[in-house]
Amino acid sequence: MTSAAPASTPRVLEHTDSILIIGLGMIGASIAAGLKAQGFKGRILASDACHDELEVGRSMGIIDAFGSIEAMGREADLIVVCVPVLAVEQVLRALMPVWHDALVLTDVGSTKAAVRESVCRVFGHVPDNVVLGHPIAGSEKSGVKAANPTLYANHNVILTPEATNRSGAFELVASLWQRLGAQVLSMSVEHHDDVLARTSHLPHFLAFSLVDTLARQDERLEIFQYAAGGFRDFTRIAGSDPVMWRDVFMANKTAVLDALDEFEQGVARLRCAVESSDGDAMLSIFSRASHARHYFETLLNQSSYQSMEQRSITYRAQAGGAVEGRIRVPGDKSMSHRAIMLGALADGVTQVDGFLEGEDSLATLQAFREMGVAIEGPDQGRVIIHGVGLHGLKKPDGPLYVGNSGTAMRLFAGLLAGQGFDTELTGDASLTKRPMGRVVDPLRLMGAHIESAEGGRPPLTIRGGQALKGIDYELPMASAQVKSCVLLAGLYAEGETRVTEPAPTRDHTERMLNGFGFAVDKQGPVSTLHGGGTLRGGPIDVPADISSAAFFLVAASITPNADLVLEHVGINPTRVGVINILKAMGADITLENQHEVGGEPVADLHVRHAQLKGIDIPEDQVPLAIDEFPVLFIAAANAEGTTRLRGAEELRVKESDRIQAMADGMAVLGIEHTVVDDGIDIVGGKYGGGVVDSLGDHRIAMAFAVAALNAGETITIRDCANVATSFPNFLELAERLGMRISAEESDE
Ligand code: S3P
Repeated sequence: MTSAAPASTPRVLEHTDSILIIGLGMIGASIAAGLKAQGFKGRILASDACHDELEVGRSMGIIDAFGSIEAMGREADLIVVCVPVLAVEQVLRALMPVWHDALVLTDVGSTKAAVRESVCRVFGHVPDNVVLGHPIAGSEKSGVKAANPTLYANHNVILTPEATNRSGAFELVASLWQRLGAQVLSMSVEHHDDVLARTSHLPHFLAFSLVDTLARQDERLEIFQYAAGGFRDFTRIAGSDPVMWRDVFMANKTAVLDALDEFEQGVARLRCAVESSDGDAMLSIFSRASHARHYFETLLNQSSYQSMEQRSITYRAQAGGAVEGRIRVPGDKSMSHRAIMLGALADGVTQVDGFLEGEDSLATLQAFREMGVAIEGPDQGRVIIHGVGLHGLKKPDGPLYVGNSGTAMRLFAGLLAGQGFDTELTGDASLTKRPMGRVVDPLRLMGAHIESAEGGRPPLTIRGGQALKGIDYELPMASAQVKSCVLLAGLYAEGETRVTEPAPTRDHTERMLNGFGFAVDKQGPVSTLHGGGTLRGGPIDVPADISSAAFFLVAASITPNADLVLEHVGINPTRVGVINILKAMGADITLENQHEVGGEPVADLHVRHAQLKGIDIPEDQVPLAIDEFPVLFIAAANAEGTTRLRGAEELRVKESDRIQAMADGMAVLGIEHTVVDDGIDIVGGKYGGGVVDSLGDHRIAMAFAVAALNAGETITIRDCANVATSFPNFLELAERLGMRISAEESDE
């Protein structure tokens, strides 16, 4: 696993008098140039086999002195070895005579096991002052003249510390890179080499090989003359340093060959699709790849070194503002997940309109692509799914990553338990803390083989090929996710699966299954289906998400003169708790243009400002408004009197502990409240501004942005990147209505 570096101690570099760079090529010279540009006060020494390069470095003013490895090594506190991987051993031997305990040594090699072996051959072990590293930044240019002082800015540097490193050694090396503007990550040597074989070495291998192959052909001049962007983009890295890359492939042979084997299988699959003119197979591969490429930097590739979790977005919500106009908020998240899932498992084509293009539902979509389902789009909310039937999914190549989405993980657990292949479900840091025992328990009762990490947390490992049998399950908590998980497993189970819920929860799974021609019988709290059978694809219209609309329902209710219409919002009776609660508080909300689309009721919600009053929230409304409480707390803060919530312990296991996260933020703003285990009392009144933390929870972030409409001062909200999971255009719509929220992005 990767982990972020411990908090930096920038002073460490300040205490360094002399840094020696061994190998003043482009990489080493860029370190020197960057340090100078950053005002590093110590001396920068260099050593290199090429005397001319050293002279150039000195004349450029990026090094202060140069000389032999031995002479320079004697003076250095920190040594950065920037030579090709296979030359490291020779450098270390040259350093041996002047090796002393006070120095720290690092390197920049693209493979780490080979460098560690060189270190061990020279010293017999890895000395405690050696911390190997690899900056993930480069250029096809070489030589000292190509030095770029900003080469490492905003790039990642992977350090591979040893358990035996002396205290301070890692911090010193980390502070060097941080000074150059880089982000430092740490991981094991083995993990580094494995990841890099796939993400860097294999692409270089292919680029070198393609250019070489084409260059050997007789008509090569013509090929190069007419080659357009495709050739140029794909082969840019074939211009890289041949010696360095020879060393990389010698050093990381096993991992590269493994990656190449996998790649060859992929090429064979695509070749076969082309040979047999299998358009569906090609579409499936291309669309999977195309979308993987687009989302590569955010949610798909956890090894892309720049995942969502490292982005930090801060909202500044100015006090005041208006809420006026007519908007349609994005599609319903719960229904978007289910539309993809059932569409993929159906026979035939399913066209979805109004799909939520948020990170959560996109993660679900991508997971099906990885299981071989051809999916076109999303394009302006339209997705076309070429269903593969209940038994047509294919084993994915790796773990399925579902990002921040509890719904995706729990529903997937159910449907994957019935597959013929093994799978692993992983998610982001927030999801990894959420309870999965609630789905693991009933699935095991059905005969599933499923393992979770300690404490019933993700990742989940699901063994395929199990014969599931139907169960009669009483949900221990009111959870639509658990209900849906059991029903989805029930599709694959022998006999009848029956789920009884303690209170009504959203019933989109039941409705949509019926819409796909798969009978689910619903009698009060009991939903029943029989395993076997098939789903039939067809059109699905996903209405706007009432959970997203809720932010503006509250925004308009608390803002003088507000007048707002929210179009085409889903008003399924299992989702309208927020409307019922706000109306009980005195909100002015009317439902216009009510009609039904695809088995789900929708309406335009017309909301105007009204003076709200505190109420005791009826407990039967809690599951019907379960996602809307963060913003309902803001409504309560703007109401006359006290609002009391009880029976809402489930809020503590959402994307954050939403009772505590809101209480902490409200305390900053000066909103009076008392927290209890299963709820909160909130006293309405005037409140101020301040800096609050959303804890990476999208709904906490948006709730405090709404609070600013009536705050005395600006509310600054930290950690808002995850708003993109459910409401990617929140800021744009808020601005259109007259709210004043700006966003700033920074690296953590
Ligand atoms: C959801 C169910 C709810 C809700 C979540 C979406 C669903 O979770 O909070 O945002 O789509 O089934 P629980 O089932 O845990 O209550």
